[in-house]
Amino acid sequence: MDKKNIDWSNLGFGYIKTDKRYVSNYADGAWDNGEMIDDDMITLSECACVLQYSQSIFEGLKAYTTENGHTVVFRPDLNAERLANSAKRMEMPVFPVDRFIDAVEKTVRANEAYVPPYGTGATLYLRPYMFGINPVIGVKPADNFQFRIFATPVGPYFKGGAKPITIKVSDFDRAAPNGTGHIKAGLNYAMSLHAIVTAHQEGFDENMYLDAATRTKVEETGGANFIFVTKDNKVVTPKSSSILPSITRRSIMTVAKDYLGLETEEREVYFDEIKDFAECGLCGTAAVISPVGKINDHGKEICFPSGMEKMGPITQKLYDTLTGIQMGRIEAPKGWIKVID
Ligand code: PLP
Ligand code: COI
Repeated sequence: MDKKNIDWSNLGFGYIKTDKRYVSNYADGAWDNGEMIDDDMITLSECACVLQYSQSIFEGLKAYTTENGHTVVFRPDLNAERLANSAKRMEMPVFPVDRFIDAVEKTVRANEAYVPPYGTGATLYLRPYMFGINPVIGVKPADNFQFRIFATPVGPYFKGGAKPITIKVSDFDRAAPNGTGHIKAGLNYAMSLHAIVTAHQEGFDENMYLDAATRTKVEETGGANFIFVTKDNKVVTPKSSSILPSITRRSIMTVAKDYLGLETEEREVYFDEIKDFAECGLCGTAAVISPVGKINDHGKEICFPSGMEKMGPITQKLYDTLTGIQMGRIEAPKGWIKVID
């Protein structure tokens, strides 16, 4: 397969239009058969539910070229499941798991020339999403929906790649205790836009959100979960009903336990205890594992011993093992890797 002429190694996390996208429509209580199309533009009613009341959900996963030249995707079944949970909470129809996986496969195949070659550090990011399309003016869910997947080749989410970042404790809340923080709805990201612009203007890379009810516990950032490493090498991750159940984080906890023999804990993490941790990282499909060197709490700095130059040693081992599994250098747990080609 001839690859496109793209400077793969210098890609950032941006949108590049690729050749084909998947689309399926839901009307009269059923999904149609779905197809791959060329047109990247969408024409909608001015009163479409997604435009008026933000009825939209999405997912994110990646396709990789492995060391031995296969094209693979990482745990698409978990994205399908999470999209189904998001759909239920948002009064949208479920797109069946098997159809989701089939659509992912078709999208990757149709855009194979955009799957970055092995060793470039880039990957093909897949964005499945669903939204309400018919006109709705009284507040209620749509009846008709569209499910799509597009693909775009991406590099690192944070400029500087694996260099530690600096984040701030946000004064804004990301999710309410009984709200939608645990699902992947566009509305969660809309309400974080002002907070991320503010953080960037102040010179920070990201926000750390605290729990909205007590503002004493660590939740997550706008687009990733946290992992911490204690001074005695335990991997700790926050447990909360208002954070997104990250597939990367769940995979990292398995890697820590089963591949690296480390103790792991998923529990409430109080902001007050993070000054005692040895390492901190953000994890997600886009973020992979991005090390955090410093947290700024209203002018007071928490500097992790791992410093601002490189990842801490445990974070590095987690990173190497996870990406080794994704790129086919390390044997994956059963069912984690779906081979496309
Ligand atoms: N938390 C939020 C708010 C996210 O948007 C994401 C990205 O998908 C994650 C966490 C990480 O989840 P995953 O590892 O499944 O990509
Ligand atoms: C992902 O990691 O897939 C996300 O959706 C996060 C987003 C901030 C890009």
